[in-house]
Parts: sequence; C-alpha cells; structure tokens
Amino acid sequence: MRTQIGIVGAGPAGLLLSHLLALRGIESVVVELRSRAYCEARQRAGVVEDDSVRLLRAAGLAGRLDREGLEHGGIYLQFAGERHHIDFRDLTGGRTVTVYAQTEIVKDLIAQRIAAGAALYFEVTDTEVDRLESDQPVLRYTDADGTRREVVCDAIAGCDGFHGICRPAIPAGLTTVRERDYPYAWLGILADVPPSTDELIYSHHRDGFALHSMRGPALSRLYLQVDTDEAVENWPDDRIWVELQHRFELPGSGWELKQGPVLDKGITPMRSFVSAPMRYGRLFLAGDAAHIVPPTGAKGLNLAMADVAVLAPALDRLLHGDEGPAAAYSATCLERVWRSTHFSWWMTTMLHRTPGADEMATELQLAQLRYVVSSRAAATSLAENYTGYPRLAAGL
Ligand code: FAD
Ligand code: DHB
Repeated sequence: MRTQIGIVGAGPAGLLLSHLLALRGIESVVVELRSRAYCEARQRAGVVEDDSVRLLRAAGLAGRLDREGLEHGGIYLQFAGERHHIDFRDLTGGRTVTVYAQTEIVKDLIAQRIAAGAALYFEVTDTEVDRLESDQPVLRYTDADGTRREVVCDAIAGCDGFHGICRPAIPAGLTTVRERDYPYAWLGILADVPPSTDELIYSHHRDGFALHSMRGPALSRLYLQVDTDEAVENWPDDRIWVELQHRFELPGSGWELKQGPVLDKGITPMRSFVSAPMRYGRLFLAGDAAHIVPPTGAKGLNLAMADVAVLAPALDRLLHGDEGPAAAYSATCLERVWRSTHFSWWMTTMLHRTPGADEMATELQLAQLRYVVSSRAAATSLAENYTGYPRLAAGL
C-alpha cells in the first residue's frame, strides 16, 4: 500500500491530524491498537481551551460541541475553608474554556473520518515504523484479520501516546528526556448526578487535593488525590463520597455536594515528561507520544491538538518540497509544551499534599493561593495560562 502520511494512533492527535490533512487534500492511513468501542469509552480529559474550540470549529468538527459543551468563564479555588472565584472573562478580555469530554471529541472525530471514507483501521497489532531516515518511511502492522500490511509513506506521524512504539523507534542517544514523577495519583469517578457547582472547583485540603468537574447537566466528574500505590478496589463508592464530602466541605455556606451512582472509576498516575526533539527524519511525534503533563492544569488534550495544528501545515509544505516548517516543527511545539509543563507543575504542586511535607510547605502553598486570589496580576497569570498560552494561530 501507498499513502502520503502514515499515522500511528487514533487518539485526539492522530484523528484530528488525519482530518486536518484531508482538508488540505492530503491522504493518510491511521492505525489503532484498540477497538473503536474502547477508544470511544476511555474516560479522560474534559476541558477544551478557547483556541482548541476555534480550531475544531474552523475544521467543521464542533457541531455537537457547540450544542452540548458547557462554556465556563472561570474556576473556583478552594483552600483554608474559603472558596474564591477566578473570573477568566474579566481577567483575559473575554476568554473562556469549554467543558466537553475527550471521549466525545474522539467519537465526533471517528464518525467524521469514517463518513469521509478515511483509511482508519482499529485493532491492529505489531505496529512498526521503519526507514525513518529516508524520504519513503514505512509503516507495518497486522490488521484485525491477521494479515500483515506494509504502507509506504512520505512521512509518519507518531500519535500513539506515552506507551506507543514511535518514540522508542528514535535511535537511543538522539533524544533528550526531562521527567518528573509526582508522589500522588488521581482517583477519578463519573457519577450519575447533576454537578453541585456551575464551574470547576479545585480544592486544596490538608488531607489531599480534590476536583469537581462535570460532563453535562446531569453528570458529574470528580477526582481525589490518592497515594501512588492505591488500588481502585480499596475505594468502594461510600468511601469515595465520604472523602469528597470532607475535601469540598464549606461550613456555614449552605453549599452541598450531591451524591449519585458511580458509573466509572479509575486511577491515573501523575507525571511530567518531555522528549525532544519531536522529530527524527520523516517521523514526527505529536501529543502524549512526545510529552505528558500532570492533569491538574487540564493541558494534555489541548497540547495534543496544538501539536497537530502545527504539524498539518508543516507536512503540507514538506510534501511540496519546502522543508522549512517541518524543520521548525519541534521547536515551535516545544515552546508551548514547556509553558504548559510549567503551568501544570505549578498548579499541581500548589494544590496537592506532598506525603511527608512539613507545615512550612503547607504555609507556602497557602501563601501562593492567597496571592492568586487577591492579586489581579497573579490571577491574570493563572487565567491566561488556563485558557491557553501562547495563543494558537487561528488559520488552518
Ligand atoms: P492518546 O489519547 O493516548 O492516543 C494514543 C492512541 O494510540 C491510543 O488510542 C492508543 O491505543 C494508540 N496506540 C498506542 N500504541 C499503539 C500502537 N503500537 N499501534 C497503534 N496504536 C497505538 N488530560 C487532562 O487534561 N485531564 C485529564 O483528566 C486527563 N486524564 C487522563 C487520564 C488517563 C488515564 C490518561 C492516560 C490521560 C489523561 N489525560 C488527561 C491526558 C489526555 O487525555 C492526553 O493528553 C490525550 O489523550 C493525548 O492525546 P493523544 O492523541 O496524544 O494520545
Ligand atoms: C478535568 C480534568 C482535569 O485534569 C482538569 O484540570 C479539569 C477537568 C475533567 O476531566 O473534567
């Protein structure tokens, strides 16, 4: 087989790239390890920056997002028994974020690609990328029927997430990895109950961080900081609700956390990871394949979309003989990646309890939180980063 761009991975990065390339008249083949049902059910991120929304809209992908997504003009920061609102619209001149689940974006993208007749293959195994130094790199995989396939490409996009095969295909010694593991994890639940808040609540608590998010008018998404070695089995629903009630409690306010049946439960480790450069020969990495952020800043999904917004036009130029944008791809993306890596680290370390941390550490966190909610300059910095920085070029 022959295609212009081989894409490994049908997450947000791979699917969106395939669509953005199609808008430019460029053909691609997307191969995915998992089943379509699995990709559409995986619970992950939920916050979409305004420029990511604009990108989806410009690409004709925002029909359902515009109907069902919840536009949020701020967040709440809770600490020391107080809840404060950070007003993004006021601080950033009208910018917002939209709460719309990654699973829904993935469903919309898969439906679009299939309707367009795209080459999108699920449940492939033994994916390999080869001849990356040549201008005819090769993608090999075994399809769902067990037939071994080989696709000759002009370039390959590694959009296969953190555990994929593309990043390790780059020869050892040619990449620099910067990495940090955090001494805590998130237990996330999806609950069949209307959200108890109009906007997300990020709660600093002596017993650990908690986050109240949502998935629509009738569905809540909640997270609890837990130890890294926790097993989901140790957290029956009752225990989760007791802990959530405790960490969101606001005595004297009349506010209540509504409880409901738990529909999904999972534990996510927290890590910062950047592998550079994001290119080797004709292999271009995008999204989690190249970088991971802890979820506290809600950046992972947005970074994946921003990478492919840069990659699609760069590949277009490359196919027309212009190496310039492809040569600049890694450095262009890494500027945003490092900004988001810093912001996510800052939000994470400001809001979580570090096991074994002393009172000094807690007071420093509280001083930082008090500064963010009392200084317009500090609040503006949070708002500007949360809504997305640097701004993404509007054009496709
Ligand atoms: P992925 O979504 O990981 O997609 C990669 C795809 O490649 C997958 O479908 C995978 O099956 C496929 N693949 C892997 N190996 C192969 C192979 N060998 N051959 C073919 N296909 C392959 N971010 C937030 O902002 N907030 C959150 O709450 C949040 N929660 C998360 C929870 C979990 C459990 C995880 C893993 C991530 C979470 N993230 C969160 C991060 C966010 O979801 C990711 O940043 C985002 O999914 C990145 O998109 P991607 O397309 O780069 O990678
Ligand atoms: C969600 C996840 C996040 O990591 C975050 O910071 C905000 C919201 C969510 O899943 O809704």
